[in-house]
Amino acid sequence: MVRKYQEGDLERIKEITVICFEGVSIDHNIEKTFGQFAETGWKARKAAHMDDDAAVNADGIFVWEEEGTVIGYITTRLFRDALIGQIPNISVLPEHQGKGIGKALMKAAFDYFEEEGMKVAKIETLDQNDVGQSFYPGAGFKEVARQIHYAMPLSERKI
Ligand SMILES: CC(C)(COP(=O)(O)OP(=O)(O)OC[C@H]1O[C@@H](n2cnc3c(N)ncnc32)[C@H](O)[C@@H]1OP(=O)(O)O)[C@@H](O)C(=O)NCCC(=O)NCCS
Repeated sequence: MVRKYQEGDLERIKEITVICFEGVSIDHNIEKTFGQFAETGWKARKAAHMDDDAAVNADGIFVWEEEGTVIGYITTRLFRDALIGQIPNISVLPEHQGKGIGKALMKAAFDYFEEEGMKVAKIETLDQNDVGQSFYPGAGFKEVARQIHYAMPLSERKI
């Protein structure tokens, strides 16, 4: 079942994040390209996004719980002036994927956006993420832009 996030869920959703975003995160891509460059690796950086999501809008995080265990979540942000609801992160543990949990979490986010008076929902995904690209159009999203992410070690700067 979907329920609202509680403070005690934070460590669990971080755990889910580092499992689910392996191979589909910008932080991981940077590290795969250049190697680990800081004391903490991509997992710690990606997990810290959950701290940010909870700090900005804990009320807009929903989790999927089964037999007392959280196995997926979705985070949201509200841009009240623009009437845009954003979904920064969504994850479902691999062994539970493909059973409709992602869709149920997405529906909870859409319902929340409508309750909060938002008019548009927004989400981003990486080109390399096949599931994201089939899931989101299937939920009604239309592609509006593509973005390229660049990174380089500063030792290689040319200007
Ligand atoms: C994206 C994610 C949350 C979807 O969760 P899920 O519980 O598997 O999603 P659902 O079972 O509700 O399926 C939703 C849609 O995803 C797509 N999908 C799900 N599993 C798929 C698979 N194995 N292969 C291809 N498409 C798949 C389908 O379009 C499906 O819709 P359909 O059932 O109408 O065909 C999950 O795959 C995940 O955590 N991925 C890793 C993290 C990630 O990429 N997050 C998003 C970053 S932008």
